Amino acid sequence: MDVQKKVIIALDFPNSDKAFALVDILGEKAKIYKVGSELFTSYGPGIVKELRDKGKDVFLDLKFHDIPNTVGASAKVSTSLGVKIFNVHASGGSEMMKKAKEESLKEAVKNGQAPPLVLGVTILTSLTSDMLVEELKILCSVDNQVIHLAKLAKDSGLDGVVCSPFEAKMIKEACGNDFIVLTPGIRPLWSVTDDQKRFKTPQDAITDGADFLVIGRPVTKNEDPKGAFEKILDEINS
Ligand code: C5P
Repeated sequence: MDVQKKVIIALDFPNSDKAFALVDILGEKAKIYKVGSELFTSYGPGIVKELRDKGKDVFLDLKFHDIPNTVGASAKVSTSLGVKIFNVHASGGSEMMKKAKEESLKEAVKNGQAPPLVLGVTILTSLTSDMLVEELKILCSVDNQVIHLAKLAKDSGLDGVVCSPFEAKMIKEACGNDFIVLTPGIRPLWSVTDDQKRFKTPQDAITDGADFLVIGRPVTKNEDPKGAFEKILDEINS
């Protein structure tokens, strides 16, 4: 198993100086970085190009959610930036997800590049079943809604979903092994938990079927980020 290609480091920084400093510290072994809305908004799309120029793959975590035409246009531009993965909210509906995948594929073919993985965000892990029912008037449990949205994402042509590591197993069972599962909410046993309430160790998440793990603070806030990152790779390998 090529573990280095499964661990995505979250560049949750307000500016590029800190982000590039970490990329330099982690060196060769760190292959994929997540760029979220904070860094993207502060630095702009050039952040993707700079990471690509350093030989890194990028997961663009902007969670598009809009009318199909607008999301399709965002998918096209994301693809032209050369990202490896980007995501949309599955709750935007099947037409929106189909358009995202369609426009992304068209752009990749036009540019002669490998098409990015397009993932659907199911239910944010910050939402509880009570909040679904009381605030959003979605009258079912988080688990049922996650499975429903994962199946909808699959039927709409997406490559997989972003979900909690606690949902990985059931999504693989419902949608098949080839359907990609990417999970944040990862904490090694030796790490502080920060604000993550429900988390799994990297080894457990992989055992449950996660294809990609997003890891932030256990590495980025560690006083020895490179040591922490390599310890995670070693633990998964063992
Ligand atoms: O620092 P930490 O490992 O908790 O970072 C996890 C990353 O994954 C952050 O960028 C966070 O925003 C993101 N994320 C998450 N939980 C979700 C969705 C995204 O922690 N449900």
